[in-house]
Formats: sequence, C-alpha cells, structure tokens
Amino acid sequence: MIFRTGIRVTEKNKKITHRAKFSLKCFVNGEKVERDLDSSRSLIEFIRLDLGLKGTKEGCGEGECGACLVLVDGKAVNSCLMMAVQLQGKRLITIEGLKGRDGGLHPLQKTFMEEGAVQCGFCTPGLIIASEALLKENPHATVEDIKRGLTGNLCRCTGYEKVISAVEKAKTDI
Ligand code: FES
Ligand code: FES
Repeated sequence: MIFRTGIRVTEKNKKITHRAKFSLKCFVNGEKVERDLDSSRSLIEFIRLDLGLKGTKEGCGEGECGACLVLVDGKAVNSCLMMAVQLQGKRLITIEGLKGRDGGLHPLQKTFMEEGAVQCGFCTPGLIIASEALLKENPHATVEDIKRGLTGNLCRCTGYEKVISAVEKAKTDI
C-alpha cells in the first residue's frame, strides 16, 4: 500500500493543506482497477462517486439497513462502514457484477422479479448481495436460515415474504 502526502494550495487564500493520499489497486467486478484516492474516501463513495456504479445504495450510512452491501473477497460487507483503503489487493463485487452462468441475469435477480420481491427497489441490491453470500456459504439454507441471514437488510415495502420465497427459489440455480 502506498501512502503519500499531497500538498494543496487553494487559489483563494493560498493556504497550504496536507491531505493523505493512497494508491488503490484492486479488482472490481473482475476488472483490475488502480486509483489515487484520499485516505478519507469511504468504500461507498469510491463505488458510487469514483466508479459511477450506482446500483449500490446508501440508506442509513451507519451500518443499520444493508442497502450498501457489496462482496469483498466473497464476504458481504456494508460499504458505508468500510474505507476504500481497506480494499487494497482485494476483489470487490457490486450488484452490477453479479451474473448468471450464461452471462445473463443472476438466478437471484430472476427470482426476485418472478416472485414480486422488488417494489421501490431501494433495498434490492443489498438484499440480493446478502442472499448471494448466504447461499454461497449455505446452499441448502432453510427458510429460518434465510430469515436469519437477511436480518441486516431492511425493506419497508415488501413485507419480506416475497423476498424469502425468491431466495428459496434461487437455491437450486446457484
Ligand atoms: S447505508 Fe450502509 S448499512 Fe445502511
Ligand atoms: S422494495 Fe422498497 S425498501 Fe424494499
């Protein structure tokens, strides 16, 4: 990891400020990415603002809603709670990077649509990422396992029943 200190002189007051920078090298949805970033950049800012991947949503911003979930080295993490610097050398998958075996829609994306588990859709990317992590770890997850696995994801529209049936239905295709 390379840290360096940048010196910035503003035109307005010529005041000198020091800002820590780092060079991030990682993989995003299978592609190698290298960026120079402020060390204060959060992972969700890196994803949405620097990479322009707007599928990952920011809800609460404090680890309570699960809307910002992404996969880092296969584990679901709240990107609002992680700094971009922590991604160094790791593999990030966002909702845009989830694909089916044929390169089309991922089985969970299909079953969420089929079961009507998407309403306003704000929570959906996070729910799909959480479900993907859950089924990768436990392909035979029971309804109770699914309910437990999705406790960190809030949805105010669906009542969760359709979400759970969508995850159940996707089990055989993952
Ligand atoms: S925005 Fe990250 S958990 Fe709510
Ligand atoms: S579909 Fe609207 S918050 Fe879940």
